[in-house]
Amino acid sequence: MSVQPQFIIDASYLSAAFLFIYGLKRMSSPVTARSGIVVAGVGMLVATLASFLYYFGVSEAAEPHLGTNLVLAVVALSLGTVWAWWSGKRVAMTAMPQMVALYNGMGGGAAAAIAAVEFLRTDAVHETVPLVLAVLGAVIGSISLSGSLIAWAKLDGRINKTWRYSGQQLINGALFVVTLALGAYIVFVAHGHAPVGLVAAFFIAALIFGVLMTMPIGGADMPVVISLYNAFTGLAVGFEGYVLQNPALMIAGMVVGSAGTLLTLLMAKAMNRSVSNVIFSNFGASGDEAQGEIKGSQKPAEASDAAIQMRYANKVIIAPGYGLAVAQAQHKLYEFVKLLVDAGVEVKFAIHPVAGRMPGHMNVLLAEAGVPYDMIFDLEDINDEFKEADVAIVIGANDTVNPAARTNKSSPIYGMPILNVDQAKQVYVVKRGQGKGYSGVENELFFADNTNMVYGDAQKVMVAMIQAVKSLEGGAH
Ligand code: TAP
Repeated sequence: MSVQPQFIIDASYLSAAFLFIYGLKRMSSPVTARSGIVVAGVGMLVATLASFLYYFGVSEAAEPHLGTNLVLAVVALSLGTVWAWWSGKRVAMTAMPQMVALYNGMGGGAAAAIAAVEFLRTDAVHETVPLVLAVLGAVIGSISLSGSLIAWAKLDGRINKTWRYSGQQLINGALFVVTLALGAYIVFVAHGHAPVGLVAAFFIAALIFGVLMTMPIGGADMPVVISLYNAFTGLAVGFEGYVLQNPALMIAGMVVGSAGTLLTLLMAKAMNRSVSNVIFSNFGASGDEAQGEIKGSQKPAEASDAAIQMRYANKVIIAPGYGLAVAQAQHKLYEFVKLLVDAGVEVKFAIHPVAGRMPGHMNVLLAEAGVPYDMIFDLEDINDEFKEADVAIVIGANDTVNPAARTNKSSPIYGMPILNVDQAKQVYVVKRGQGKGYSGVENELFFADNTNMVYGDAQKVMVAMIQAVKSLEGGAH
């Protein structure tokens, strides 16, 4: 008895779906995340190969363009593979959010393209439910494509403007209604056989809406927006999977859609903002207005003095932030930490969920430097330990350690959980000068009695700290 190609295809899709879900599960811990990505990648390979197998299951008579389609698919896959491999290899860690934005956009674009092919097919008899899903997938996928491209350009510093004008929400809303109306025409009036011009107008309207929706959002909010578009792309792919009756696409789309939605909500929650606040407000632009008077003054300290105090401390907790990534100081920081550990100091890293500018930013940086996972703690696991720490050192972090989030109701970050660094006996803050954090508000921690400021680029400061401890050890011999 021979095995039918359709059976192999179905079995492959099922295993691909299992691998996607299992891979995602492994991505939930930094220890297993790497292998999770490999597992999900293998799932994608299986799904892609199964899609090719489809060609051996249909006859040339049933599918007249089989040969041409096969060639086109191979060319598209080869181009995509080479480009993704090349760009993935050379991308800098700091440019990862931009890259994710681009890949998101491609996924949304692919989903929209599937819908476009469905609308332009003259031979197909369209049923209402798949048509509705195709239109929804097309709208969401197109918004995700053009929105992600704007997000990429903003994060990459190619667009620096947040484009705002009065009546903007009204115009955006009107364009969205027009897009939906064109979609409704395609489904309910033309039954999937609308004129090419109308189909083109529908896609153009959705693409323009994606641009207009993303342009007013501040550059620093882009990671949340990218995560939102990620969820959109998943949803669009899931819908188009239904249109094609492809279970692997449906499952992959829904997994990406729900993971993206959860991540977006978690990020917004950790910043104590709603998703609509991220999309519709220009956060950080007016931070100073909400700032009350801060008493006290910032007290500078030498890097060497701070280093020596830490060398003789029992317990040191490090709160890294965005500035660590800017300075690329993670390797030097870990070199310094190893010196402290060798001297018998207990050292822990405290990670705020939205430290940096992308989810897991600090975890990625520390992993890059080789910091063991058992030294790294999430906010809720370490926050009670600050009061036992001799020294808390804040490196390039600002908003995530601002006590105003606990006390100042008029502060834009009020309610955001923060790292309790101010409860340590001594606090050192490493930053270049008087620069504000992402939210644009001043930080009263810097003026506290138990805080000293170590001014300078984080990398240079870490080098000075390493030298100070080493010269101490050298002197001791
Ligand atoms: P921020 O509040 O952004 O503060 C970073 C600080 O680093 C600045 O005050 C800056 O001060 C300092 N800095 C910059 N370059 C430096 C360098 N080369 N050396 C030393 N210091 C440097 O950082 P955070 O505490 O990590 O907070 C993250 C913020 O981003 C939060 O408000 C969060 O809501 C937001 N956000 C996070 C995400 C995700 S998912 N992580 C996404 C969007 C937004 P100087 O200029 O004085 O040096």
